Amino acid sequence: MKNLSTILATLVLVFAFMNSASAEDWEVSTTAKKKLNPYELSKKNISTGKKLYQTNCKSCHGDPTKANMLPLVPAPSDLGSQNFLIQSDGEIYHKVKVGKDAMPTFEKTLNDESKWMVIAYLRSFDKNKKRAVVTKAVVNPEVTDVKIELNVDTEHKKLKAHLTGLKKNGKRTGLEGVELSFLVKRSFGQLDVSGEEAYTDANGKLLIQFPTDLPGDREGQVDLTIKITDEDEYGVIEEKRVLSIAVPTNPKNPLDERAMWGTRANAPIWIIASYILGVIGIWGVIFMVLFQVFQLSKMRTKSS
Ligand code: HEC
Repeated sequence: MKNLSTILATLVLVFAFMNSASAEDWEVSTTAKKKLNPYELSKKNISTGKKLYQTNCKSCHGDPTKANMLPLVPAPSDLGSQNFLIQSDGEIYHKVKVGKDAMPTFEKTLNDESKWMVIAYLRSFDKNKKRAVVTKAVVNPEVTDVKIELNVDTEHKKLKAHLTGLKKNGKRTGLEGVELSFLVKRSFGQLDVSGEEAYTDANGKLLIQFPTDLPGDREGQVDLTIKITDEDEYGVIEEKRVLSIAVPTNPKNPLDERAMWGTRANAPIWIIASYILGVIGIWGVIFMVLFQVFQLSKMRTKSS
C-alpha cells in the first residue's frame, strides 16, 4: 500500500513536470509573429469575433478581462489581459492555429477570416490599440431611457425600427451604428430575420425586409422581438410585438392523421385489425376450452 502511494505520487510529479516543461516550447517563428490582422478593428468585425469567441473559446478561457477561465493545468490565459495582449497578432494567430496540450487546434475548425475576427475582438481589450477602435467607430452621446420604436408596413412586409435615447438636455436622439436583432418565435427557438448588416443609420433608423415566405399561424401572426444585439452597451433593450405579417398557414395537428402515435380511431388500420383479431382469437380459445370441458362432462354422465 505504501509502495503504491509512492508510485502514484511519483507519477503525479512526473506528469506535472512534463506539463510544465512542454508549456515552454510553444515556439512561434519570427515570420509568423510578423503577420498582421488583415481585417480592420471595426465594430462589425469585433462583434463577429465576439460571437465566435463565445461559441469556441469561452468554455475554457472565460470572459476576457474577467479571469474566470477553467482551472486547467497549464491554465488557459485570460485573453483580455494586457499581459497576454503584449503578443503580436501573428503570435496569437499561430497559437490558435496549432494549439497545445488542452488547447485544441483551430486550424480546420475556424477558417482564416474567423480566426482573425476573434483576434480583432481580443484586440478590442488592448489598452494600447483601443484608441484605434474608438476613433473608427461612431460615438453616440451619453443617453438614458433607450427605446426601440417599430413601424410596420404589412403590405410590403417592411419593418422600420427607430432606436433613440434621451440626452442629458432632455432631447431624444437617434443612436447610430448599433446592431439590432429581429427575432421571430418558432416552434423551437427563435429565427433572426435581420440579415447580416443590421446596424442603425445616422438617425438611429434601420429598415428590414421581412421574409416574404415565412409561415405564421392561421392569421399569419408571428411573435416578433426586436432587441439590441450587444447587451453590454445599453443593457437589455427589447420591444415585443405580435404582427400579422407572415404567410397564414393552417398548422397540421400531427394527432389528426392516422399514424403510429394516433389515438383510438386514428391508429393505423393494421394495428386495429390485429388488436381485434387478437381479442377474437383469445375469446375463441376460451370458448373452445369451455366447450370441450362441457363435452367431457356430458360424456361422463353418459358413460356412468
Ligand atoms: C478546451 C479548452 C480550450 C478552448 C476551447 C480554447 N482554449 Fe485556448 N488555451 C487552452 C489552454 C489549456 C491553454 C494553455 C495551453 C498551454 O499553455 O499549454 C490555452 C492557450 C491559448 C493561447 C495562448 C495563451 C498565451 O498566454 O500565450 C491562446 C492565444 C489561446 N488559447 C486562444 C484561444 C482561442 C482564440 C480560442 C477559441 C477560438 C481558444 N483558445 C479555445 C484551452 C482552450
